[in-house]
Amino acid sequence: MPEITLTQDPVHLRHGSNIGRPLTRRDGLLKVTGAARYAADNNPKGLLHAVVAVSTVARGRVVALDVEAAMAHPGVVEVMTPANRPALAGDPDAKPNPLVFRLDLLQSDRVRYAGQPIALVVAETLEAATEGAVLLAPRYESEPPAVGLDDGERFVPTAVGPGAPAELRHGDVEAGLAAAAQAIEATYETPPQYHNPMEPHAVVARWDGDRLTLDTPSQAMAMARLRLAALFGIPPENILIRSPFLGGGFGCKGLLSGPQVLGVMAARLVGRPVKLALTRAQLYGPVGHRSPTRQRLRLGADGEGRLTALEHHTLMSSSRFDEFFEPASNASHALYASPAIATLHEAVRLDCGTPMFMRAPGEAPGSAALESAVDEMAEACGLDPLEFRLRNYAEVEPTTGRPFSSKALRECYARGAERFGWERRPLAPRSLRDEHGLLVGWGVGTAIFPALMFEAEARAVIRRDGGGTVEIGACDMGQGAWTALAQIAADAVGLDGERVEFRSGSSDLPDGGIAGGSAHTATAGSAIHSAGAAVVARLAELAMADERSPLFGAGNAGVVARDGRLHRRDDESRSEGYAEILERAGLAEVEARGKGAMDAAAQQRYAMQAHGAVFAEVKVDPDLGQVRVTRLVGAFAAGRIINPRMVVSQYYGGMIWGVSFALHEQAVMDRRSGRPMNADLAGYHIPVNADLPALETILVEEEDPHVNALGIKGVGEIGITGTVGAIANAVWHATGVRVRQFPITLDRLL
Ligand code: MOS
Repeated sequence: MPEITLTQDPVHLRHGSNIGRPLTRRDGLLKVTGAARYAADNNPKGLLHAVVAVSTVARGRVVALDVEAAMAHPGVVEVMTPANRPALAGDPDAKPNPLVFRLDLLQSDRVRYAGQPIALVVAETLEAATEGAVLLAPRYESEPPAVGLDDGERFVPTAVGPGAPAELRHGDVEAGLAAAAQAIEATYETPPQYHNPMEPHAVVARWDGDRLTLDTPSQAMAMARLRLAALFGIPPENILIRSPFLGGGFGCKGLLSGPQVLGVMAARLVGRPVKLALTRAQLYGPVGHRSPTRQRLRLGADGEGRLTALEHHTLMSSSRFDEFFEPASNASHALYASPAIATLHEAVRLDCGTPMFMRAPGEAPGSAALESAVDEMAEACGLDPLEFRLRNYAEVEPTTGRPFSSKALRECYARGAERFGWERRPLAPRSLRDEHGLLVGWGVGTAIFPALMFEAEARAVIRRDGGGTVEIGACDMGQGAWTALAQIAADAVGLDGERVEFRSGSSDLPDGGIAGGSAHTATAGSAIHSAGAAVVARLAELAMADERSPLFGAGNAGVVARDGRLHRRDDESRSEGYAEILERAGLAEVEARGKGAMDAAAQQRYAMQAHGAVFAEVKVDPDLGQVRVTRLVGAFAAGRIINPRMVVSQYYGGMIWGVSFALHEQAVMDRRSGRPMNADLAGYHIPVNADLPALETILVEEEDPHVNALGIKGVGEIGITGTVGAIANAVWHATGVRVRQFPITLDRLL
């Protein structure tokens, strides 16, 4: 039986009593009892059901839809097509900035990819809407699609993300390769991948005049609201988005998707509330995916196994009509010291839906290739792969020379290796067997993910009854934000967690920013921290100015807020309770707002990254080529840990994605139809419990005084980055066969 072990370091409680506690999820009971209400669980009065009909061709035009047949079906209320869809105030094809993506909102009969929505059927029941959609029997004029990396013309994108150039050159790679004692060149391929959150996108939309209420999962409610406001020509304040629970996001719920908007359009068209829930198959097209990549790495090393050159070239795809570029080569910017580093990206345009942020975008495929190549280089140098990584440890960010804001990667290597028993690893491949004759291999991979921050705002209130309220429109997509942010909130206002009402998950609260880029706790947490500091400061002003308060005149020394009281910093025995302060001031409550944003100056000065080291054991059947991961140990350093239980779960989740990437996940495209041939969870494989080994994580302590006031880096995505390489390298160590095409399936191994 797979066994899950939870190990963690003692967490030092330097703040209040809430941060650092391994609390269980606040939403746990609601979820396991089914009481948590997800978007599609809402059934307002008068609700109609919408089903989207999607294109079965990838490129062409819809020339006929049997709207009459669908309308004649009992229960069908309306069929929405390009002919009758409500007018939009904003053009869904407009591109005001790179983070606004073009949406398919029935603007024409054109088909740009398989799975594109081409009509919507609205009916009294889900069954009638489903049947109506079938009766549309679309006919197409189609052209042969381009769906593979060799099918399009290559170009160099102007950028591969906001502020991220497509090419970066540091030093002279050719000179470094020419001077190298050992050099390798290897090309790795990763397949198209689809997000597949457990909960497919759903929306329940209701219009009241020009006011719109919707229940829909969102990783960024304020951005979704702005997009809707622009599309429908109404003020953002008129829109209420409720998103208390998400059944996973993984990036595909970061920005509003087309089908979610279609649900809103349908509600406007029929004048009644409408529910639209995508099917599993309908997630393969209009809500984003990860582009396939082909990555060529060239590495050189001197006689001591020190890198002389590192070149990372990525070929990937965007859609024919929009721009998203998987920045895989960027994984080589900050990890290994090399006097010469060049990273380049090229893209082709395919007749697929636009790719999107997905689970460690860039780093996941990028580090899969980089960590494999580094292992191949270590082998060429005759060095233990961990020793090779230590010889090439980056003391500063190699491409810029900036110091790291903090970097406990050495400790991650050491702690992980010790726990795993790495020192017993034989250098030569194919030299370990278990008692059943299975080949055993051990591999290591380095994990890295940038410590990002976006912008958020929070509001904090302290009341005369000794309680408090903290509000922020944050997003709990399963990662535990509702729990961890509430812990930060309680410390921020100096109260026990039980006394603080923490309100989150809807767009009428202050903008909680984006739950993405592994930056939500850092960003929303910083906003909460500063709102708490501001409300405590108001309370302190009241007390310090009042002769009757024990805090009178504490001004210079200042006060600390703890357990519902303000204490003088220079003499903690002199304190006063919040209730007394407010009582005397004749106030029912005090409130304040605070913002969280990245510190641009610190960001200039320091390279900010979370790190980790993942160790994998695999067993491979020598006759069948079947690979099982039997052990995974990940040691991670990501600044302050708010809730070790949530963080361990995040690392588990990331490592499981890593297993998935290395051994299971791939969309297989039919080059004639342009459709993925495995658009369901039967054919698109993800690991289940039986595929998962003993997972173990080690939380390596790391203090970071620069990333943000709380010292938080991200933990959400880093787990995937080291794990893929660790498994690939373990497979090589078990078999002596280097598979450079992911996922590593048995046909590729034999
Ligand atoms: Mo994540 S791909 O930033 O939601």
